[in-house]
Amino acid sequence: MTDNRSNFTSKIGFILAAAGSAVGLGNIWRFPYLVAQYGGGTFLLVYLILAVTFGFALMVTEIAIGRKTRLSAIGAFPALNKKWGFVGVLASLVPIIILPYYSVIGGWVIKYFTVFISGQATAAADDAYFSGFISSTTEPIVWFLIFVTITAAVVILGVEKGIEAVSKFMMPVLVVLTIGVSIYVCTMDGAWEGVKYYIMPHMGDFSFKTVLAAMGQLFYSMSLAMGIMITYGSYMKKSTNLEHSVRQIEIFDTAIAFFAGLMIVPAVFAFSGGDPSKLNAGPGLMFITLPKVFNSMPFGTILGTVFFVLVFLAAVTSSISLMETIVSILMDRFHWNRKITSIIVYGYVLLMGIPSSLGFGVWDFIKPLGMSILDAFDFISNSILMPIVALLTCFFVGYIIKPKTIIDEAEAEGASFKAKGLFTVVIKWVAPIILVAILVSSILSAMGLLVL
Ligand code: PHE
Repeated sequence: MTDNRSNFTSKIGFILAAAGSAVGLGNIWRFPYLVAQYGGGTFLLVYLILAVTFGFALMVTEIAIGRKTRLSAIGAFPALNKKWGFVGVLASLVPIIILPYYSVIGGWVIKYFTVFISGQATAAADDAYFSGFISSTTEPIVWFLIFVTITAAVVILGVEKGIEAVSKFMMPVLVVLTIGVSIYVCTMDGAWEGVKYYIMPHMGDFSFKTVLAAMGQLFYSMSLAMGIMITYGSYMKKSTNLEHSVRQIEIFDTAIAFFAGLMIVPAVFAFSGGDPSKLNAGPGLMFITLPKVFNSMPFGTILGTVFFVLVFLAAVTSSISLMETIVSILMDRFHWNRKITSIIVYGYVLLMGIPSSLGFGVWDFIKPLGMSILDAFDFISNSILMPIVALLTCFFVGYIIKPKTIIDEAEAEGASFKAKGLFTVVIKWVAPIILVAILVSSILSAMGLLVL
């Protein structure tokens, strides 16, 4: 029965699809901001160390669980140990929560692409433009619908003809555009100060919070703890070397994040005369500050257009992985066919995305946890559910099925797994400790919010 499960046809197909999931909005607007705020080069170093240890161990785990069981998270955990099936359920909830609001933001990206390509950079540079747009009722919903439709079209086409084909085309284009824009930006007047600020360590901004921020960013950025890599692993061939693939995905994800910083930090510096406070996080950076920056630059209309194309590529390959994960969960659970399942998920996303979109306009009186509807979903999935799932996964592997199960899978068909010693230590000891710290800090900040 599991024999007719789809497969990625090649190693490169698998890597580009997984990297497509990993490289997303988080790499482009969140990573540069975190680096700038939390100590520049020191943050980069901490992030890199965490990526090759913690990120590596968790990604190997998830892909191995998927490949071993040939099932998505909901089936994979109980297949390995009946009592631990609930972790699969929790992991499956994450993409179900994220996809609708992620697609709302995806819609904003398409909107900004159309704004720049139609030569309205000056209008977009106005302070009130973004808030005017997201608080309106129909327009953001229409762009959201377009984004979800594109995502669903790829997922309906399946693993090989849809996801693999699209990733093989989109990811190289994304790399070329990102490097191209960052080179152009770095050669502008006044950009060099920004490059220095981005790369040089500034220890004064470094603290324990830096490690927590780097860690939080890391597993969001690598699409961990949401069942995605389990699903993609379930489509990976036994003959593909798992350790090498994970290393390549990590490099890809981190390199794009790094180049995104080289495009955004110097651009904002050149524009603001070296004021780092303009590097605020969140939608404000991408949809308010950057349009102003582009509008002030030579060839800004072209640059803005190219920028939003690359953000779109990053976002859509991530939303595809989210939708594919939900579809494969339902297919594994209910044995429906791909087409029907995709259409059901499409309907669900359309329905659930609308409140997130309206939350900035006519429904802005609804403030769960004191936030907008979109931010509340984001908080619950990223700050609460994901650390819990990651922690339970480490515990499950470290003490229930034992690291050897994962190591054996990574070494299938005589493949080498050089870092297995490191893997074992991280999964059993290091990762759980840091994850508990992240969880506690998220909960405390939520309580802070509730008190306020
Ligand atoms: N990894 C993606 C990023 O860095 C985020 C993402 C979240 C992807 C959820 C898929 C699902 O932006």
